[in-house]
Amino acid sequence: MSLRPDFPVPEHVAIIMDGNGRWARKGGMIRVRGHESGTESVRDVVEASAEWGVKHLTLYAFSVENWSRPKAEVSALMSLLKKFLNKERETLLKNGIALRGLGRLEDLPDSVLRTLREIEKETAHGTKMTLRLALSYGGRQEMVDAVRVLSQDISSGKVQATEVNEESLAGYLYDSDMPDPDLIIRTAGEKRLSNFLLWQASYAEFVYTDILWPEFRRGDLLAALQEFDGRVRRFGKVLDTDPEPQGSSSP
Ligand code: FPP
Repeated sequence: MSLRPDFPVPEHVAIIMDGNGRWARKGGMIRVRGHESGTESVRDVVEASAEWGVKHLTLYAFSVENWSRPKAEVSALMSLLKKFLNKERETLLKNGIALRGLGRLEDLPDSVLRTLREIEKETAHGTKMTLRLALSYGGRQEMVDAVRVLSQDISSGKVQATEVNEESLAGYLYDSDMPDPDLIIRTAGEKRLSNFLLWQASYAEFVYTDILWPEFRRGDLLAALQEFDGRVRRFGKVLDTDPEPQGSSSP
């Protein structure tokens, strides 16, 4: 019997894929083996998410800070990414999955960027799910980049400063079509956001697991979705169902 959630799944799931290096070290291997093995988890999680009706899946694949890793590791990650994109392009297309990059993509090596752009274009009409790969991504950098463009628009008179609000500012982020994540999963035991989707995560639910990313499979995703399903989301409000007199006032 194949695994399948018997409850509503969140619209947008975002994942901080962590623990590749630790997984490799545990097996006496070099770090890059962990990243290679992590691509198997990526494949399984993408397939399961699309199958189960998740509409948006965002994977933190390479942060702006990751450029400071040893040159050999950065270069191995870039080759892995290109290999993954080329290998999966047909599957994405066949399964109606639209691929998008999210981040300072112009900093990626030319050949990776070219491949990414080609696949973005080819898969743009996919309606089953949008898979976003956060690449050369940083939440603070995203806000800086947004404010830079917005300031130019204010200087040129295209936008009035008094018109700036949450909605209009969000329109300057890397992908204005992306809904806020409902659920952010982080693997490998750390409990931090690491500069991921800072603006968008304001009311996301978090699920942490000790499982290292290369060992994370659809069963673990299902467990995370189940945990999310048991959460009560208040978005800063008090619900009619909250008990009195100790009605929660948590933000
Ligand atoms: C964090 O583990 C993981 C990364 C920095 C890269 C994630 C990349 C992949 C899963 C493979 C390629 C991606 C795609 C989309 C094909 P870490 O190296 O920080 O692990 P550690 O904390 O145990 O050292």
